Amino acid sequence: MRLTYTSDLWWKNAVIYCLDVETFKDGDDDGIGDFRGLTQQIDYLAGLGVTCLWLMPFFPTPNRDDGYDITDFYAVDPRLGTLGDFVEFMRTARDRGLRVIADLVVNHTSNRHPWFLDARSGRDSRYRDWYVWSDEPKPDDPSQIVFPDKEHSIWQFDDQSGQYYLHSFYRHQPDLNVANPEVRDEIARILGFWMELGLSGFRVDAVPFLIQNVHPALGSPHEFLADLRAFMTRRSGGSVLLGEVNVPYDELTGYFGEGLGDQLTLCFDFIGMQRAWLAMARGEAGPLAEALEQRPTPPKDCQWAVFLRNHDELTLDKLTENEREEVFDAFGPEPRMQLYGRGLRRRLPSMFGGDLRRMKMAYSLLFSLPGTPVVFYGEEIGMGENLDAEDRMAVRVPMQWSREGGFSQAEPERDSPGGAFSPGRVNVADQKRDGDSLLRWFQLLIERYRECPELAWGMHTVLDAGHPAVLAHRCDADGATVLAVHNLCDAELEIDLRLDGLESQILTDLLVGGRLEIGGNGGVRIAMSPYGCRWFRASEPEVPPEDASVKSR
Ligand code: NOJ
Repeated sequence: MRLTYTSDLWWKNAVIYCLDVETFKDGDDDGIGDFRGLTQQIDYLAGLGVTCLWLMPFFPTPNRDDGYDITDFYAVDPRLGTLGDFVEFMRTARDRGLRVIADLVVNHTSNRHPWFLDARSGRDSRYRDWYVWSDEPKPDDPSQIVFPDKEHSIWQFDDQSGQYYLHSFYRHQPDLNVANPEVRDEIARILGFWMELGLSGFRVDAVPFLIQNVHPALGSPHEFLADLRAFMTRRSGGSVLLGEVNVPYDELTGYFGEGLGDQLTLCFDFIGMQRAWLAMARGEAGPLAEALEQRPTPPKDCQWAVFLRNHDELTLDKLTENEREEVFDAFGPEPRMQLYGRGLRRRLPSMFGGDLRRMKMAYSLLFSLPGTPVVFYGEEIGMGENLDAEDRMAVRVPMQWSREGGFSQAEPERDSPGGAFSPGRVNVADQKRDGDSLLRWFQLLIERYRECPELAWGMHTVLDAGHPAVLAHRCDADGATVLAVHNLCDAELEIDLRLDGLESQILTDLLVGGRLEIGGNGGVRIAMSPYGCRWFRASEPEVPPEDASVKSR
């Protein structure tokens, strides 16, 4: 039996859709999204073609970090519904063939979590050692401060118990101490609980922070991740850990682990994302091509998660200062568009000034770059941001279902963007009726991506396109080839490619139709429109292109 391209490894070519229950759809008319509303929209998501939903935190929270500050890991925030609503949602998602993963935020808790309230009640508290305390912390290294506009230290003095506690993020988010075996057991219990309720895995928040700065320091910090992975494998072999690990490539490989990959199943490609933005700012493929060449191949059962935008600021922290300025100049020149000196609090369409050609090209890149694409809700219709909202909340606006908004029958808790990106101009209902819309383009890209397992499973090679604005890459798997070409500039051009091993074959355009013949010497000339993108399948002249693909099972 051949075991390649099997959907047992469903995450290898999944399409992951990140959403916040709170901003997706209000089902009980109180202005706040909830599980009932989300359940009503499952058919929309299934119709879009996504295969896995990633839910941002939906647990009880004082909401001082949009739910990333949790007070109970085993419940649903009452504003979003009940555990019963959650289970109904899971049943409906499963019925439509959608997997669900959720944010696992266990680097820290809210300071209102009962564990922390107990821990700070006195040094002899049963939960004292669940957090990290110090009499005299080491001086702060400014590079460790994640939110420099709000915090100046990662240590906070606790008057009640007379020691400092560690908080890698806001001071109201004390770090859990995973050096404590009880904490590690509790984390496994949390995973086990939600897996019993049907989750296929977790997006793990802040992974490097989770295993660093604990007390006493872990002898081998990665062992904890491997233990979690092993625990999950025992419970459900097909479950995944998708890690938020924004570190350079050479450090990152350690987070996938050994052998077939015994720690995180997927890691976000933060470097590739930042290089893609630099490339798009310059209108030159070079920075992205370099990242693709430098990016390590993940272990056999693991995968890169590719994204252009997530729910946080678009971080540019791994670019040089000059490079970052280039991206700021191109896509967010005004100070109010920038955040923490390192990122942008805008969504992609507004950064492109609403230029549909550019948006379509950028998303074509997202789906053709080797890996598993991750989409942030609303990207499929080109939603913009609300710069009047506070810092990262600018991009976490209500989903725009119709010209009236359609998110809620009541006054929504959060405001939508105005102007060119208001619901009146950008919404699902209108785009469903428009064959040229971004929504329809997304559906096409997702369909093709799923039909071309070569993109996610194959070996990729960046080709010499002979023009600085063009990224051409091919993905090969078991003798089948898909080729993707992207023009990052606003000029019409023609490129000449050399496709070794494909001499005299046919290239079939997978997005708009048409065929090109590859010469007997492997050369082919390809016309590209301004900000154009083309995907091709290679096949022998006598083989229908549909039959030339590797078959996934
Ligand atoms: C990373 C999350 O993506 C971000 O939204 C959050 O504020 C921090 N972790 C703290 O949980």
